[in-house]
Amino acid sequence: MDYLPNYLPEPYRIRVVEPVKRTTEQEREKYLLEAGYNPFLLDSDKVYIDLLTDSGTGSVTQAMQSAMLRGDEAYSGSRSYHELSRAVKDIFGYQFTIPTHQGRGAEQLYVPALINKRERESGLDRDKMTAISNYFFDTTQGHTQHNRCRVLNVSTPEAFNTEVVSDFKGNFDLEALALAIEEVGPSNVPYIVSTITCNSAGGQPVSIANLRSVYELAQYYGIPVVMDCARFAENAYFVKQREKEFANWSIQEITSEAFKYADIFSMSAKKDALVPIGGLLAFKDDSLLDVQLECKTLCVLLEGFPTYGGLEGGAMERLAVGLYEGMNEDWLASRVQQIEYLVSGLEALGIRCQQAGGHAAFIDAGALLPHIPSWQFPGHALSCELYKVAGIRGAEIGSLLQGCDMETGEQLPCPAEFLRLAIPRATYTQAHFDFIIAAFAEVKKRASSIVGLKFTYEPKVLRHFNAKLEPAL
Ligand SMILES: Cc1ncc(COP(=O)(O)O)c(C=O)c1O
Repeated sequence: MDYLPNYLPEPYRIRVVEPVKRTTEQEREKYLLEAGYNPFLLDSDKVYIDLLTDSGTGSVTQAMQSAMLRGDEAYSGSRSYHELSRAVKDIFGYQFTIPTHQGRGAEQLYVPALINKRERESGLDRDKMTAISNYFFDTTQGHTQHNRCRVLNVSTPEAFNTEVVSDFKGNFDLEALALAIEEVGPSNVPYIVSTITCNSAGGQPVSIANLRSVYELAQYYGIPVVMDCARFAENAYFVKQREKEFANWSIQEITSEAFKYADIFSMSAKKDALVPIGGLLAFKDDSLLDVQLECKTLCVLLEGFPTYGGLEGGAMERLAVGLYEGMNEDWLASRVQQIEYLVSGLEALGIRCQQAGGHAAFIDAGALLPHIPSWQFPGHALSCELYKVAGIRGAEIGSLLQGCDMETGEQLPCPAEFLRLAIPRATYTQAHFDFIIAAFAEVKKRASSIVGLKFTYEPKVLRHFNAKLEPAL
């Protein structure tokens, strides 16, 4: 059918819309200056296309919206809680669920509980402990360090090389993992985190074979595995496309297989579960009952009673539906195609990107702006220029986000300097992607005159959110 375009039209009808305002380049220069050259600090009405994050920014479905009306707002043991835990059991096979207000709400429960357990049982000092991941997301890393435990990433060697194409760039390097466990000592590893998809490496998937091997190794050494699974459905979609054994499985069947290879899962439900707010902490069975009980106690303190965890009843109903809606294969295909379209459009301009992943285009700012050193944040400078040119907001994933060593205050080494354009679900259309590609053609023309940035205010932790900067002239 050659008369049809070579892309899938968006597989949904848009019925509720949010107006956006266009601004001039002159206005945007002023807004950027007022925001201390930090797009995180811009008001949303000053942004034309907002690609800061795909977290809680996408469309919800009719079924999700209508489910909210069923909310049971009882403080304890509500119908809505039971509906949510029923969905978790059905999809993931996990027996006990704690709702949380978002992903980091789950992290602030399980991270201290697992580290406390290790300390209690081994008598070892937490300062000597190291948690390991294919790549820690920044808040997971932050909570671990806040609990005085170190972090170690053992991603595949090709993960951050934008010149290499590979099916599962999110995988653990299994040899490096085994070596790290032996070096640190198994009792000094309080947990392993399998992040699916691997956000920091560019939304790259992890294969089922890799998840299985990690779990076998962890069981051998007696280390609990936590699945950090904000993008569980996108991961399953890639597994279906790329891991032969699963080519004929449904997204739900692949999901249920993947979750066999962890003991606990921690989910920011603001991504693949499509909700604007919400998170989940779930336990496969009672084998970590002491951790489960400590998480429930911490939940009362930090999030709310463990059968609502900071969510209203209606939000739990919406999440129970969103978990299923997010596994719609047509939508996943359309979403992945949107990202492939954007990445191939940018590459056609000669702009190097990480191979298309699940939720974002990752532009290799280090390659585009080789004259800006890492300590002047090429990804962030590119983000500011893109906003100035076209009102498009992205986020740096590079040295600025990586931050400094807690003890020495030295900048931590960063494997790549990316600008991330995260794509909200079912929110932008093909026309927006053409506009973004056209904006980059202009940015590329200006590349050699783009300057790096330096701090005027540098927060101590998670500095990228609130930092203020100025051009390093
Ligand atoms: C892999 C991963 N884990 C955890 C989180 C934290 O979740 P939240 O932003 O809902 O607190 C995120 C958020 O982007 C994430 O991508």
